[in-house]
Amino acid sequence: MSRTTTRDQKGQPVTAPERRRFDSAERQLLDAALAGQELWPYTSSGDPKRNFWNEAREALENYYSDTSGERLRAVPAGSGTAAIHVALGGLQIPAGTEVIVPPITDMGTVMPVIFQNAIPVFADLDPNTGLLTAETIARVATSRTSAVIVVHLGGSPADMDPILDFCRQHNIKVIEDAAQAQGASYKGRPAGTRGDAGCFSLNSQKHITCGEGGFVLVRSEDDFLRCLNFSDKHRNRTGVTDPNSEHYIYNGSGVNYRMSDLEFAMLLAQLPKLAKVAARFTAVGQRLDERLSKIPGVRPQQHHGKAISSYFFQMFRLEPDLVARREDVLKAMRAAATSVGMGVGKSYGDETLYRTGVFRNRNFFDTFGQPNNESPIWPAELVARQIFPDIPETVFDYKQTHCPEAERWIESSLQIVFHDGHEPHHADILADAIETVLSI
Ligand SMILES: Cc1ncc(COP(=O)(O)O)c(C=O)c1O
Repeated sequence: MSRTTTRDQKGQPVTAPERRRFDSAERQLLDAALAGQELWPYTSSGDPKRNFWNEAREALENYYSDTSGERLRAVPAGSGTAAIHVALGGLQIPAGTEVIVPPITDMGTVMPVIFQNAIPVFADLDPNTGLLTAETIARVATSRTSAVIVVHLGGSPADMDPILDFCRQHNIKVIEDAAQAQGASYKGRPAGTRGDAGCFSLNSQKHITCGEGGFVLVRSEDDFLRCLNFSDKHRNRTGVTDPNSEHYIYNGSGVNYRMSDLEFAMLLAQLPKLAKVAARFTAVGQRLDERLSKIPGVRPQQHHGKAISSYFFQMFRLEPDLVARREDVLKAMRAAATSVGMGVGKSYGDETLYRTGVFRNRNFFDTFGQPNNESPIWPAELVARQIFPDIPETVFDYKQTHCPEAERWIESSLQIVFHDGHEPHHADILADAIETVLSI
């Protein structure tokens, strides 16, 4: 069978670039971690003796403090999901209260809310940015709302200032989910440094990675100690000596979301690469935006005027009259993407999260004695009914949740995923394919 070679507009053959994320920097640090014959994060190990936990935490704190202009503290966590859970626990989000979340995001944004016995409430997205806004949050906020998790979807920072203004007025904590937005910025500061907590993922798909991992950024020493204790069984790893202090050993609850010296070694090697890696993603994403915005009927995700997206992916919507052609567009994109080693797909997620089985059926936990787990008893609901006797039934029934704009994003959008080996000319191959199929 003859294989057709994809060519660019100058007739040159196109190939997929290689990804080279790891080099001698990672190898040397991993060797140093292994040299200690010990991977426990809190001990010094190896020769020369190094404490990887301290080094990695300080590296994060210095990086984000320097780039945000504000002293921030960092708490490592075993994943991005763990980071969100640590933030909820560390910020003391009360059981039975409501936490506002977007309907289009990774499940890891939302599941920690369930496991912290709070109630996720879905707010709609902006039709142009695909992100939460102060207005969409205000529409679903109640006196029972304790927090909002703002997701910078696709690496595009949400407009934080109005969100922070609204939430401060109503005593609502703001958690930024910057899992997809490493290297992105909003008004000159890194995404994830404005809220009460910023949460990041370091899984292998992310701009920088340590295999699996994550971290939380907070401001105050109390929040730091609360998050740290929550991330490690409330073991008081910093040695608070006053038994009456809330930070003292076992004066509170916690799980184990530690990272080991291996992940810290990776993080120490990867963090210095972040700015350069993110700039490469941004260059490709911006080229796609520029090209796609010129194609009639195609509407790229809009970004805040004072934000720079780090394009974890680039997404765009088709105007209503073109939605019926989404499969054709996807097919054309797939052929082009394969030739340059990019990924493509329909919307981010096949459904809004409230339409997934786990939310529709509310089978978050197995309940003893419930045949087929029908109408499972949900701890957050029991607590909420106790503390808010007038709480409406609709809060517990996700089958009644309806976020029209989020649903339109699911029905009409497409996404393009690239990596730091790609360059803007690879984006042109995708844009050409989309332009061609839509001109037929
Ligand atoms: C927006 C968002 N939040 C949270 C997570 C969870 O991160 P992790 O997979 O590291 O648990 C992800 C992961 O892809 C994500 O994209």
